[in-house]
Amino acid sequence: MAGEFDASAYGRSIADIYDTTTDALPTDSAVDRLHDLADGGPVLEFGIGTGRLALPLAARGLAVAGIDGSAEMVLVLRTKAGGDRVPVTLGDFATTRVEGEFALVVLAVNTIFALPSQEAQVSCFRNAAAHLRPGGRFVVEAWVPDLGAFRNGSALRLLSLGEDAVVAEAARLSAADQMMYTTRIRMTDAGLRLLPANHRYAWPAELDLMARLAGMEREHRWSDWTGAAFTDDSRAHVSVYRI
Ligand SMILES: C[S@@+](CC[C@H](N)C(=O)[O-])C[C@H]1O[C@@H](n2cnc3c(N)ncnc32)[C@H](O)[C@@H]1O
Repeated sequence: MAGEFDASAYGRSIADIYDTTTDALPTDSAVDRLHDLADGGPVLEFGIGTGRLALPLAARGLAVAGIDGSAEMVLVLRTKAGGDRVPVTLGDFATTRVEGEFALVVLAVNTIFALPSQEAQVSCFRNAAAHLRPGGRFVVEAWVPDLGAFRNGSALRLLSLGEDAVVAEAARLSAADQMMYTTRIRMTDAGLRLLPANHRYAWPAELDLMARLAGMEREHRWSDWTGAAFTDDSRAHVSVYRI
């Protein structure tokens, strides 16, 4: 299960259907918030994927660039209107450098946890900081670990129920390593599709400390992109760090 880390693996397994899995994501509020936080400046998205956030930001007039580990995800981005005009560098966003100084670096949808160790996540924060101009911001969207969802170290939950597709998730917890090994099971008339994704999870306070190690301070923490307060009950957070 441990194996070598491969920044291209997630995208390779899901690229052809990724865009059918994002309906429930709060894309409009994320784009509004990111547009405000960029304040007219250039944006770099770590894990740009198929351009769910990058393309609407570019359509609003911002200069947007990206890094992604998956050529397959970027190929989908290239098929979309405006997708050929977004510069994308293939590589691991924990270490890959691109030209330029950015007002905003974005890492959405829990993708910080795709990095397999604390060391790799700290490296990612440092890499974000290295791309920011003075006063620039690094925005991280992630869930708050919910260990209560596991019984005897495993969990099975229904993620979505539709007439065309049912999606469930099987997960195993390794609390000592802060790892969750998950496989989504997508059931359609065409058959079963298994979508593995492993997460080295971290609580918000650990991410704050990573930001400090990278020379940034937390400016905001909300429970979602609308800016709702982060509370005891929040299951996710949008955290904004400033250099
Ligand atoms: C959940 S998708 C999110 C895509 C897009 N940001 C969005 O909001 O729809 C995660 C993306 O991050 C990429 N990715 C995951 N780990 C990576 C890594 N270590 N380095 C570069 N890209 C990575 C995947 O290939 C995928 O495109």
